[in-house]
Amino acid sequence: MKVLIFKTKEEACNWTADKLISAIKDFQPSAEKPFLVLGLPTGSTPIDVYKRLVAAYKAGQISFKNVVTFNMDEYVGLSAEHDQSYHYFMNENLFNHIDIPQNQIHILDGLAKNPTEECHLYEEKIASFGGIDIQLGGIGENGHLAFNEPGTSFDSVTHVQQLTQNTIEVNSRFFEKKEDVPQKALTIGLKTIFNAKEVIVLALGRKKAEAMYQSTRMAVSENCPASLMQNHTKSIFVIDEEAGSKLS
Ligand code: PGA
Repeated sequence: MKVLIFKTKEEACNWTADKLISAIKDFQPSAEKPFLVLGLPTGSTPIDVYKRLVAAYKAGQISFKNVVTFNMDEYVGLSAEHDQSYHYFMNENLFNHIDIPQNQIHILDGLAKNPTEECHLYEEKIASFGGIDIQLGGIGENGHLAFNEPGTSFDSVTHVQQLTQNTIEVNSRFFEKKEDVPQKALTIGLKTIFNAKEVIVLALGRKKAEAMYQSTRMAVSENCPASLMQNHTKSIFVIDEEAGSKLS
């Protein structure tokens, strides 16, 4: 595990975007490995990273023709058209503006008739591409990664997750009222994230300072899901000074 602390949010986002842009540029497709596989998050944290990826595509620096994506999670009960669904978020912030073929985009279906089966198939699909090469993630104020809430097993794979009151409250800022926030989500598991060849967790702002402290300075514990990344040989926490304010 590495922790990279940048002075500003902008520098942290730029570093993260540059890392992804380089990986996309450097990727050489072959018969055995036709696609670079990216794991992608939603939330306020990655928005500026996506802006830079779109700008790099528009400037002709990168193409997503050989990129496959797997999103981390989706709310149960929201359709792809719902403006708070993660399908909608990804289309608005990234996919509508780049040249990725639709069939190379994967997002869990929040309306799946059989959510358990949906999760199982998602995990199989990730495996069919040889796993995730680079997993980008945000972190919750409670240390969650994707929607893996505190107490989730480190052995978890893609599953249905009951959201905690803390997450529901934090995410209610995007909904008209707190009661509108879905109580459950489909999410890749902590093992799914851990199995990625490289993991980048981006954390911005003072509200993430305690989660960063628990994740990187305290013992690895299922009470703080992101702490698992201490055991990953290629994990990097990319943070701004505010998120790092409890680390000195
Ligand atoms: P945020 O969410 O990027 O909106 O802060 C991150 C998360 O909850 O994982």
